[in-house]
Parts: sequence; C-alpha cells; structure tokens
Amino acid sequence: MTGRPSYYVTTPIYYVNDKPHIGHAYTTLAADVLARFKRLDGHDVMFLTGTDEHGQKIERSAEKAGIDPQTFCDQVSTKFKDLTGAMNFSNNQFIRTTEDRHKKSVQHLWSALEEKGFIYEGRYSGWYSVRDEAFYAESELVDSENGDKLAPTGAPVEWVEEPSYFFKLSAFEDKLLELYDSNPEFVMPKSRLNEVKSFVKGGLDDLSISRTTFTWGVPVPGADGHIMYVWIDALANYLTALGYPDEQGTDYQNFWPADVHIVGKDILRFHAVYWPAFLMAADLPLPKRVFAHGWWTNEGQKISKSLGNVIDPYELIETYGLDATRFFMLREVPFGNDGDFSRRAFVLRCNADLSNGLGNLSQRTLSMIHKNCDGQLPEPGELTSEDNLLLNNIEQTLQLVRDHMDRQAFHLALDAIWTQASAADSYISVQEPWKLKKTDPARMNTVLYVLAEAIRQIAILAQPVMPDSAAKILSQMRVADRGFDQLGKAGRLAPGITIPKPEGVFPRFELPEEDSEQ
Ligand code: ME8
Ligand code: MG
Repeated sequence: MTGRPSYYVTTPIYYVNDKPHIGHAYTTLAADVLARFKRLDGHDVMFLTGTDEHGQKIERSAEKAGIDPQTFCDQVSTKFKDLTGAMNFSNNQFIRTTEDRHKKSVQHLWSALEEKGFIYEGRYSGWYSVRDEAFYAESELVDSENGDKLAPTGAPVEWVEEPSYFFKLSAFEDKLLELYDSNPEFVMPKSRLNEVKSFVKGGLDDLSISRTTFTWGVPVPGADGHIMYVWIDALANYLTALGYPDEQGTDYQNFWPADVHIVGKDILRFHAVYWPAFLMAADLPLPKRVFAHGWWTNEGQKISKSLGNVIDPYELIETYGLDATRFFMLREVPFGNDGDFSRRAFVLRCNADLSNGLGNLSQRTLSMIHKNCDGQLPEPGELTSEDNLLLNNIEQTLQLVRDHMDRQAFHLALDAIWTQASAADSYISVQEPWKLKKTDPARMNTVLYVLAEAIRQIAILAQPVMPDSAAKILSQMRVADRGFDQLGKAGRLAPGITIPKPEGVFPRFELPEEDSEQ
C-alpha cells in the first residue's frame, strides 16, 4: 500500500465480434480522463479496460470469418488494444476473458455462489438474443413489421431449450431495492436509477447462467457439457484484474470495491442488477457506483454497420488530431445524455474553445513575452486586485473540477476550466499589455507574468483531457512539475526562465462543405 488514497475505475470489456468504433472510444476516454485526473490529484489509480471474448456471438462471428475462435479473438482484441495507444489511454491493465487467470477467477466465483446455495440445476426454455447476449421474457418482446419477434432493443431473438444452471436472482429483490434506497448514487445519473428500480420492482426471475448447446466459454466446474453464460464470465473481469480469488493480494486489498464502473446505458441492467446480486451472494463488497452514459448518434442517425455510418476513431484523429477529438467528445454532450456527432458542431466547438480559446491565449501571451521581454519571463511588480482576482479564481477551480469529476460531470469540469481561459482573455483585453510597452513597461511585465502564470495553471488542469497539448504548452514555459499540488502559489513560475518563440498548439478547422456558406 502506498498510503495514498486509491481509485479503481473500469470500462466495459468490449465484444470482439467487431472492430472498435467511436462508442467504445468514448467510454474508455471518460474512464481515462477520470484516471488521469485522480493520478494528478494524488491517488493511486487502477484503470482497467479489455475485451469480452466468449459466448455464442463471438463463436458465430469466428465461424463466419472461417477462423477458429481463439485466433479470431486474438486478432480483434489486438485492434482494441491498439486503440488504447492511438487514443493515448492510460489504462494500467488490458484484460482478456480468454486468459487463464480469468478462467480461474470466474470458476472460483461460480464455486462460491454454489457453496452459498445460490445455484441450482434446471432447464431453460425461453427467448435468447445472441446479439444482446441476453434472455428475454415473452412479455418484453415486440413484433417486427414482418411478424418476427424482437427483443426490446430491436435485436432478433431465438427460442432456446436446454439443461441449465440457474442463479437465484429472485432472492435478491429486496436486498437490491434496499441498496438503491440506502445508496442513491449507486446508479448514476438519477434517471437511470429510477429505471433500474422499476425493473427490479417488476419482479426478478432466476437467471440462467450456463449453456449447453455450444462450447465457446468457460467450463462450469464439475458439470460436463456446461459452459458459463457470458455475462457472469464477463462481469467477473473486474475482480480478476485485481488478483481474485486471492482476496489478500495487494491489488485486491487496495482497489476493491471499485469506485466506479463506467458503462453505456445498454448494459446497465447487467451492472446494476445482476452484478451486485452476484457479489452479495458471494459475500463480496459492492462497487461504489455504476455510471451509465448515453448513446451517440451520427448526424442524427443511429450508428450501425448496416447503415454504413459507423464513426471510425482513427479517421477523427487523422482529420482533427487526437486532443481535439478527446476534448469534443467530453465537452459537447453532458455525460449521461445521448449525443449527436456532427462535424459542424465539432468544428465550431474546437475552433471556439481550442484554436481561438486556449490556443490563442497562450500563443499571444508567449509571443509577447518572447518579443518584448528578450525571450525571458519578466519579473512581476506588485499585483493589483485584478491580477489577484484572476489568479485566485484559477486556483479555486481545482475544487470545482474535483467535485464535477467525482460526479462524472466531465462537461462541467471542462466548462469550469475553460471559463478561466475566457477570464484570462478578458484580462488581456482590459489590460492591453501591447500598449504598455511604451507607457508603463513595468506594468507590462506584471501583466505578462500574471498571464503566463494563469496559462500554466489552466494547462495543468487541462492535462487529463488533452495530455499532449497541455504538455506542449507547459514545455514551452519550461514547467516540469505538473501535478495538482503545483497549482496556486506552490508552483509559481520563476522570472527569468527562457520562453522560446511559441509554436501553435491547436489548428483551426474548416467547416464541412455543405455548411461553409452559412
Ligand atoms: O456490451 N454510443 O460489449 P459491447 C455510446 N461485452 N457508447 C457506445 C456506443 C454508442 N453508439 N456503442 C457502443 C458489451 N458503446 C459487453 C460488456 S462488461 C462486463 C461486458 C459502448 O462491445 C458503451 O460503453 O457491446 C457500451 O456499453 C459498450 O460500448 C458495449 O460494448
Ligand atoms: Mg453491444
């Protein structure tokens, strides 16, 4: 143990049936920004992502590709792993459910549930959706135009009849409702908690947790022919990564229970109902929070492979650069809400906040210092109340950002930081340092020093969302210590340091064709 507070944040592990798209990048980005924020704020962080590689969906995808399932998983999992590099994700681990450590972990969890008497043998007959990897009650199904039955998500369903083990989910109805009542932030945002509550109040059936009609999964201990339902397998990944079943191990001791599982709203039921029920049954501590974010559409349309409108994160990085992409996704849409991806909104947002905003602020300030102060950070005179106001407000932004981050309100955290960049902009317009060179060079020095100091702190705060760009700005000012303990007076810039001719950090983008005349 490090003596520092610990923080454990996870993403869903993604199915390897298809290559990663913007939705996967989005969830992991949110977790990455949280992880980076907590590290800079003095925490010992475990940030986990990975791939979900078992089940019928993967088995069928491999078959369709004409490759054996393990080779298929290896190939697609690599694409998700590569994305973590391309997006500059700082995950501590990348877990795969086909790893031996995971098979051992989930088999142990199964045995624990069995020993406590929560598993029984039976026979499942009912509807299953391979696309959702979910069982549906007849009453949940909807009719399609051609009369086929569909899952409420629109996914096709098939009738399944097979021997199966069941988990006594029905025994947890009251305990789950108690959990939601005593800890209303267990599920966020709030609207999602209500959704979960009404699902549980509607009554819980026992859950089929083994399959016998295919083989691509973790074998059920001591039950030939049964493999585990992919969701019990998948959820256990959050424990595996900490060394479970070794509950005495350092990582388990340090990091369990998780601070937050970040997921999309599509998989809330699995995380907010099944997962805490499994953990309660096994007598393990519950995660502190499940945050279910919203869904991206593309220019108003549902994103789907058949519509051919899947947004490729690599194309965004190529077109707009990595940090603009990272910034846009978290700044534009309140985390928790659905969001529409539009190129026009992207360009307008990034031009306003990045090239005209923070970029222009630092470019102007550092150029003035370079030109007017012999390339050295000038010595400030006594600070006026306006100078102090700007710097004090920036100093106080950390607490604001911390509060927003602790509620996964990324858009508000970024808004708080960028409000300070605008304040610094207004300060320039009021102080007009370019006029002071002739009239009051000492005051010009003070103003430029205050601005450089403001930019240093804003860049430190901006690191979680734009690590590379913030680093560029900080390097231009020779700032080496970049933790949040350097905010405020602690890390003040030393007058006399060399400020080279600055290079632009954020390019300006053109509006897409069809919009350029508006
Ligand atoms: O569900 N908008 O994996 P999955 C926003 N293996 N987020 C999106 C999105 C979109 N259009 N599309 C996908 C699984 N996502 C299971 C999880 S966890 C123990 C097992 C994101 O590959 C979002 O986070 O279908 C969603 O929850 C996840 O991808 C689903 O990924
Ligand atoms: Mg899915």
